[in-house]
Amino acid sequence: MKNKVTAVYFSPTGGTKLAVQRFAENFTDTVLVDNTLPEQRAKQLVFAADELVIVANPVYAGQMPKVSGLWHNLQGNDTACILLACYGNRHYDDTLAQMQALLESRGFKIIGAAAVVIPHIFSGVLGSGRPNATDVEIMADFAAEMTEKLQQGRIKKLQLPGNPAPEIKAPVTVPKTLQPEQCNMCGTCAALCPVQAIDAVTLACDEAVCISCMRCVKYCRTGARDFDSAKLTARLETNFAEPRPIECFS
Ligand SMILES: Cc1cc2nc3c(=O)[nH]c(=O)nc-3n(C[C@H](O)[C@H](O)[C@H](O)COP(=O)(O)O)c2cc1C
Repeated sequence: MKNKVTAVYFSPTGGTKLAVQRFAENFTDTVLVDNTLPEQRAKQLVFAADELVIVANPVYAGQMPKVSGLWHNLQGNDTACILLACYGNRHYDDTLAQMQALLESRGFKIIGAAAVVIPHIFSGVLGSGRPNATDVEIMADFAAEMTEKLQQGRIKKLQLPGNPAPEIKAPVTVPKTLQPEQCNMCGTCAALCPVQAIDAVTLACDEAVCISCMRCVKYCRTGARDFDSAKLTARLETNFAEPRPIECFS
């Protein structure tokens, strides 16, 4: 395929990143762009009509993460685009439809989309080990189909499931904890927070800004930050443990 390929992702704890890497391996010389931090999201990326852009984000409460201006630094010029909604085996609900509406309004034509299962941050069972070998095969077939579609130029408006403009849901409430005696004030949590919810000096978290992505917990070097998702985890594992397949739309 001649098209230059760029894969842009938002991935606070790395599950979406791994999935998009596996998918992008099917294209030659793909450039990966990590759009997780505000510094990168401040940089405008403009794409030409002969490029291909892959856009990937996780699913939060069945929707796109509520990050102000997420994907507003991407500008297409009738540029082909593939969407990946990466989720922890419960469901992706409105996410793909929301992504489609947003990216179309920013000059992209959506040629395909996939809902890809990844590990659920609040369960060691849901999405464990995903993408697995079967997922990788499905993604390879889907990538080949996308390449063929681009070469043949047969692109019509894609119908994706979900509501493109859903009522914004309240974020999940998972209590976070901070053990001050374990914290060495290194500031990693503040530096890596995708929404700058953590004060760089005091390391206090502004809960009104926090999106509960749990990146601060994952990257805390001393284990001072943690969360208690026991209730949510039990509900998820009782109701949504049956592994779901990757779904591809073209
Ligand atoms: C706040 C929040 C809400 C989530 N909501 C859903 C959901 O509605 N459905 C689902 O299957 N997974 C859900 N997940 C799981 C994520 O999609 C996934 O485990 C992980 O957080 C992906 O993000 P990453 O790329 O940062 O690793 C949620 C995760 C978080 C942090």
